[in-house]
Amino acid sequence: MHFHIISIFPKLFDSYLSDSILKRAQDAGHIQFSFYDPRSVTQNKHKKVDDIPYGGGPGMVMMAEPIITLWEEITKKTLKEKIPFTKKRHFKTILLSPGGNTFRTDMAKSLAQDYTDIIFICGRYEGIDARVAEITGAELVSIGNYVLTGGELAAMVMSDSIARQCNGVLGKRESLEEERISSHEMYTRPEHLKHRGRVYSVPEVLLSGNHKKIDEWRETH
Ligand code: 6GU
Repeated sequence: MHFHIISIFPKLFDSYLSDSILKRAQDAGHIQFSFYDPRSVTQNKHKKVDDIPYGGGPGMVMMAEPIITLWEEITKKTLKEKIPFTKKRHFKTILLSPGGNTFRTDMAKSLAQDYTDIIFICGRYEGIDARVAEITGAELVSIGNYVLTGGELAAMVMSDSIARQCNGVLGKRESLEEERISSHEMYTRPEHLKHRGRVYSVPEVLLSGNHKKIDEWRETH
């Protein structure tokens, strides 16, 4: 999976992507990230990427042209590249917007299955000129019922969730565990944990070695 991120704050992604599972997955070639900054393709000398809204109102709106220019570049350029074992590339464009369709794991699964490239368009300020969605055919997606200062965090959340559905990113065991285990109540050593004069113990059943009983317990915890 190749994630293409259009954002005026590409540095926001650095620390999260350069550690842990997403770092390993990139090094192994399972996923790839590319960044495109609308400021790099502005025509005006002040590198302005936003302007006041038609019809009035507070705040600024991100201009369509720099974003469209980058989107065209991504879709043209990547079409010429070759990726092993896959002849055709399939693009999905997602515009991060608090008013969009709510992201869920089943969306992550189908995106990972159906597409080779995902383009995230991250807006800041009050929004993005509506013609961006019209021209790119982007789906508007939100990650939940709260407002963030921009789409960058949402793009990161979605990338993480989609990446773990891509082949090779999780080990076989981790993926199987995700399907099998319904419980999120987990324990590790020590068996008895002392805190402020009380002892907190691991549930007996987990020490029993009886896997039928353990699975039953996990269904209900
Ligand atoms: Cl995609 N963007 C912003 N700005 N806020 C959000 C969101 C997206 N999803 C939830 N809140």
